[in-house]
Amino acid sequence: MADDKILTMAFETSCDETSVAILRSGRTVLSNIVSSQIDVHKVFGGVVPEIASRHHLRNIGPVMDQALLEAGLTLDQIDVIGVTNGPGLAGALLIGVATAKAIAYAKDIPLVGVHHIQSHISANYLEHPELEPPFLALVVSGGHTHLIRVEGYGQYRILGRTRDDAAGEAFDKVARVLELGYPGGPAIDRAARRGSAAAVSFKRVLLEKDSLDFSFSGLKTSVLNYVNNEKSRGNPVDSADVAAAFQEAVVDVLVEKATRALELTGDNKLALAGGVAANSRLREKLTAAAGDLGVRLFIPSLALCTDNAAMVACAAYHKYKAGQIDDWNLDAQADMELPMPVYI
Ligand code: KG4
Ligand code: ZN
Repeated sequence: MADDKILTMAFETSCDETSVAILRSGRTVLSNIVSSQIDVHKVFGGVVPEIASRHHLRNIGPVMDQALLEAGLTLDQIDVIGVTNGPGLAGALLIGVATAKAIAYAKDIPLVGVHHIQSHISANYLEHPELEPPFLALVVSGGHTHLIRVEGYGQYRILGRTRDDAAGEAFDKVARVLELGYPGGPAIDRAARRGSAAAVSFKRVLLEKDSLDFSFSGLKTSVLNYVNNEKSRGNPVDSADVAAAFQEAVVDVLVEKATRALELTGDNKLALAGGVAANSRLREKLTAAAGDLGVRLFIPSLALCTDNAAMVACAAYHKYKAGQIDDWNLDAQADMELPMPVYI
């Protein structure tokens, strides 16, 4: 990895975290400030887009000041500005993009827009400096469930993706049904430790024999039906057991599909990324599966799994080094495709 002194500052506002980070040489985190809006959205049981935008607008200045202060730097020292420009909540993304553009323009700093999945994958580069493409990535978040072959820095081949709900979305919805609170993923993870996954059996949806796609909406409906049926029969529902059984079903499908993908590509490196990568059972079962397959597993620390700007800065640094700099037309895109591999 390059040993330059490039200072990258990045902004992340795609959902409900306002984050600004500064990296040196694309790998060393000088600061990574994350202002979470969990408490704001908790009362609504999910993220309210308009409220998220308003909070990003209010927080982004102070969060940036804090990032500069912690890194001991001023804006004049920054070499590259990175920003998540999609996919995500349109209004939320706009706050980060407008701020990044304004600063880049005022200070004459190169501007780099970054795809959110690219950032999640890059969290692994921060955590594991020895990781280099090619490798397989399992990206599981509130908005995505993708199996991606990383063929080079910024070059991706999508092998499979969810056809309906993302894994994190299913966690959040099931947690709401079980009245476990928001955000649902960590709540289910905690409740599942007190329950028995064998208490209820939920079907693992694996789709066609050779498919690497996912589908989680049927599982979510099964949980909902189970809970409603038990309640209508007057039976008590043990939310810890249901949480454990649901979590086990999701994790089994994720591990099975990742295993199939590894067998198909012959890769010997697997990187886990995204908010659901924080799930303790997924980390445990994937570690065991990778061990059986003789594959090296890379997992970011918990703080780098969920949304943060350090991973955005890392992705922006690699794009900058590859000459992929944006102009003032850079815009927020709620839906945005990953850059595909280029073969010369
Ligand atoms: O990557 P992320 O912070 O935001 C998106 O890009 O979507 O992921 C958030 C998702 C939420 O659905 C949250 O419930 C889930 O990650 N999550 C978890 C855990 N921690 C966060 N899901 C399962 N187990 C966890 N421990
Ligand atoms: Zn994310």
